[in-house]
Amino acid sequence: MTSDKTLMIVMGTRPEAIKLAPVALAAQRDGRMRVVVVRTSQHRQMLDQMVEAFGLPIAVDLDIMRHDQSLTQVTTAALEGLDRTIAALRPTAVVVQGDTTTTFCGALAAFHHRVPVAHVEAGLRTHDRFQPFPEEVNRRLTAQVTDFHFAPTEGAEANLRREGVPDARIWVTGNTAIDALRITLERAGERAAATGPERRILVTAHRRENHGEPMAEICRALVRLCERFEDVRVRFPVHLSPRVRATVFERLQGHPRIALEEPLGYEAFVLAMSQAHLILSDSGGVQEEAPALGKPVLVLRETTERPEACEAGCAMLVGTNADRIFDEASRLLSDEAWYGQMARAKNPFGDGHAAERIVSVLADALA
Ligand code: UD1
Ligand code: UDP
Repeated sequence: MTSDKTLMIVMGTRPEAIKLAPVALAAQRDGRMRVVVVRTSQHRQMLDQMVEAFGLPIAVDLDIMRHDQSLTQVTTAALEGLDRTIAALRPTAVVVQGDTTTTFCGALAAFHHRVPVAHVEAGLRTHDRFQPFPEEVNRRLTAQVTDFHFAPTEGAEANLRREGVPDARIWVTGNTAIDALRITLERAGERAAATGPERRILVTAHRRENHGEPMAEICRALVRLCERFEDVRVRFPVHLSPRVRATVFERLQGHPRIALEEPLGYEAFVLAMSQAHLILSDSGGVQEEAPALGKPVLVLRETTERPEACEAGCAMLVGTNADRIFDEASRLLSDEAWYGQMARAKNPFGDGHAAERIVSVLADALA
């Protein structure tokens, strides 16, 4: 089917590709709108991995990544490139996801052209402008120019209502992270279940507010956990941010039971989560995926915009103090009943069919 309506889907970083892939694929299946995927390439290799994993059809690549770029450099390059792209493509609507600089720039550039904005994963809030930094503010600013607010949970919907977004502009859909996970688990099949005698701890950390000393504290906690528990092995795929790598490699390289790895492809990372006994992470997406896989996750942050995982009992906010991380991880490694309670908690982020709901709303309204 050909259509004169164009849905422009914008992505810049790894998590946006993972969470927008189900939307792009569902919109292609729906067929009522032409789908154009635009990447700013705020991330290069880490986005390439995800574009390949989901076979995303990239129409435009703005190629803005520069080594160790500042927030202002990313913002300027993304806004300018997206402005040009929207002027050239004249889309019917622009879809952005989450809270990155690309997200905000995509929404703002669309607004400047008076093109309707659809925001996937709308309404998450910590209510602290500096945590996560700058994402909390990116997400709030994006809401100011959004026409279609796709809230993953009722909590996110309530945040938007409190800020005065009309009910008729909000749809509670579930999180498309669970769609991506479902699609990938269906592909990976039985391999997801395999595990060995050792207990694996999977770690990721990259948040800007954790750069430097907090990251060093996380590393200290990992070394102490390996000393205390002989059957523990740590897998740590290290984010490509040079600020992250400087601390992590300096502190952990060469440790016999801590494997520092390059960022994993999505399917490989999903398998790593499935095979982990415990997950330690400051990532947003991992906080959503771990509960869906029945894996307890200790959240290496002071606040979270995803309180649902903590309320459901599958996640616990532990911050970045080495003693606290060590104590809570030790408890999970020693107390089977406590471990079982966290592992059995129910995933609060949806049924894995959020993307179809999003596409159906957009196609009904725009096509
Ligand atoms: C960004 C997002 C953050 C998101 C995270 C996901 C902003 C402000 N931050 O983090 O919300 O949670 O991505 O991972 O939008 N680099 C590479 N190759 C890559 C990716 C990064 O070399 O594929 C290096 C580059 O030197 C780059 C640096 O990492 O300058 C940091 O990249 P950036 O997009 O600024 O990452 P963060 O802001 O840390
Ligand atoms: N992820 C991955 N490979 C890795 C680490 C993470 O595929 O080596 C996936 C993970 O499953 C999740 C997403 O990347 O879906 C999280 O990305 P990130 O932590 O970079 O960003 P955040 O979610 O914190 O914005």
